Amino acid sequence: FPPTPLHLNQPELFSGYLHARRHSGHKGTYGNVAVIGGGPGLRGAPLLSARAALHAGAGRVYVLFPEDPLPADSGQPELMCRLADGYDFERATLAIGPGLGDSAAAADLLARAIASNSALLIDADALNLLARDPHLQHALAHRNKNAVLTPHPLEAARLLGATVATVQADRVAAARTLAARLQAVVVLKGSGTVIAAPDGHCVINPTGNPALATAGTGDVLSGVCAALLAQGCPPWPAALAAVWLHGAAADALVVSGIGPIGMTAGELVPAIRTALNRL
Ligand code: APR
Ligand code: MG
Repeated sequence: FPPTPLHLNQPELFSGYLHARRHSGHKGTYGNVAVIGGGPGLRGAPLLSARAALHAGAGRVYVLFPEDPLPADSGQPELMCRLADGYDFERATLAIGPGLGDSAAAADLLARAIASNSALLIDADALNLLARDPHLQHALAHRNKNAVLTPHPLEAARLLGATVATVQADRVAAARTLAARLQAVVVLKGSGTVIAAPDGHCVINPTGNPALATAGTGDVLSGVCAALLAQGCPPWPAALAAVWLHGAAADALVVSGIGPIGMTAGELVPAIRTALNRL
């Protein structure tokens, strides 16, 4: 391992991977994102994630639900809501987990996502399903493309079979261990988010503030990262860029008087778009 983690204090670490829009670009140029989640009573999480993917430049965004009924109104008519059964997982970058729940159907969707050849982001409930299933962990570690995992400290602790206190006592070690074990880019969230790669590279993000300590901001992060993957950005710079932009947007909102108290995850979404367009 490189001995000390880098501080992500300049966007140059990832900005070379984010390209200006070509004059001749069309929606097919910018990729498809499919957010898989939203079990009963948990519909908001994948919708927020999908809205973030749209605002981070994905060409088309689908929301794939594990079961009927589909929401009557997604709050964002640009999103395409479908049942996950019957959707071809090879057609999009997959972001699985927000509000997914822990049903057998949810576990089957995670197995399908890992078995696919698509770019893959795993968050929230899908991380908890992964923590319980060594076969899925093995499949993830041996898939042909590195996935991006975005655990908060409790999700990371479940994956490691450790306590939250142990994870928080050495966040860099926790992120590196998970990245090496699961052969994935791991984003260990919380103040000073740590991003670790399977080869031991590790970065600490300086942007962001406690305005982000509100429900749904993690779902927004996974949508942004999925959108960057869908636009062709490799997993490592996509994770760095998503985390940096997410924090920078929250910092800009605080400067403008929206937060630190009472900022909402929904308000973060257009602020991330602004931060991305200013890079
Ligand atoms: N400083 C900087 N960043 C912060 C801070 C802080 N003090 N507090 C939170 N954040 C950031 C985290 O780094 C992360 O990007 O806010 C985001 C919070 O993400 P989550 O913990 O995943 O929160 P949430 O979106 O509400 O999760 C929704 O998914 O993970 C499950 O159990 C979770 O059911 C919940 C759902
Ligand atoms: Mg979360």
